[in-house]
Amino acid sequence: MAKVTIIGAGQTGATTAHWLAERQLADLVLIDIVEGMPQGKALDLTEAMPVIGSDVRVIGTNDYSDTAGSDIVIITAGLARKPGMSRDDLLAANSKIVGEAVEKSIKVSPDAIFIILTNPLDAMAYLAKKVSGLPRERVVGQAGILDSARMQAFVAMELGVSVDNVNCYVLGGHGDDMVPLTRHSNVAGIPLDVILPSDRLKAIVERTRKGGGEIVSLLKSGSAFYAPSAALMQMVEAILLDRHLIVPASAYLEGEYGQEGIYFGVPVQLGRGGLEKIIQYQLNDEENGELERSANHVREVIESLPL
Ligand code: APR
Repeated sequence: MAKVTIIGAGQTGATTAHWLAERQLADLVLIDIVEGMPQGKALDLTEAMPVIGSDVRVIGTNDYSDTAGSDIVIITAGLARKPGMSRDDLLAANSKIVGEAVEKSIKVSPDAIFIILTNPLDAMAYLAKKVSGLPRERVVGQAGILDSARMQAFVAMELGVSVDNVNCYVLGGHGDDMVPLTRHSNVAGIPLDVILPSDRLKAIVERTRKGGGEIVSLLKSGSAFYAPSAALMQMVEAILLDRHLIVPASAYLEGEYGQEGIYFGVPVQLGRGGLEKIIQYQLNDEENGELERSANHVREVIESLPL
């Protein structure tokens, strides 16, 4: 059985463990700074396994030695947004937490692939690569599946069609200037700008960009966790099952999409080695301009990292 460690056993970490345990993809370790909480959640999940018929082992711990030999390390540890905050406002606090989590986990799991979720996402993925010294194949950030899934949900609701018929691709930084590619998105093969009136499409694009904030405002404390954790589960599955699955994710760019030296949301292919390939879309000037703006923002946040 593969081994997956989830650092941060809060809302997103614990829900990721829930999705993964159900899929019976790997033995799971939940680790958190809070004593007793990861142990309690792991035990509760373990007690659910007989009901759902899954034989995975789930343990909770505060000790990194229990995470040794992990195939995948997921980082969800850190503060979540409060209403009125942007993801960038979390930079200082979360840099410290993510840096420490990477340092401690890489020592005992030198062969692991890292998936970062903590915000501000693109900067935290950059930090994880820097601290670990790993090649870009082994450090990816989760954002694009979530942003695209939000857009897909809104389109499916608008048109009353199955979510399975809706394909959306949201690229760029994981912030309010993310880039929903409406020309490349479609419903059963029909481009979104053909199937939806332009005002409705515009509203969906706006709602997608602010999708995280919408949930933060509703929850009042904490941020979204069901959809983010489902997205993590899809990435883990793609890697462990060597699916060669193409999904939008935050990857370290070395010239792709005209960008160098930043983590940024692009279509990537995931398999057992982690990031196998970055897929290049044919974009028009307007789309390239939007990506450029988003990349400039990500670069500014990365430059303010305490490195
Ligand atoms: N080591 C391990 N765990 C830590 C550390 C640390 N140094 N510091 C904090 N944590 C834990 C907290 O104790 C908490 O259990 O991280 C967990 C975070 O969980 P939540 O507060 O429930 O936050 P969550 O909604 O899961 O969001 C986590 O994901 O989407 C992003 O913006 C969000 O950055 C945030 C992260």
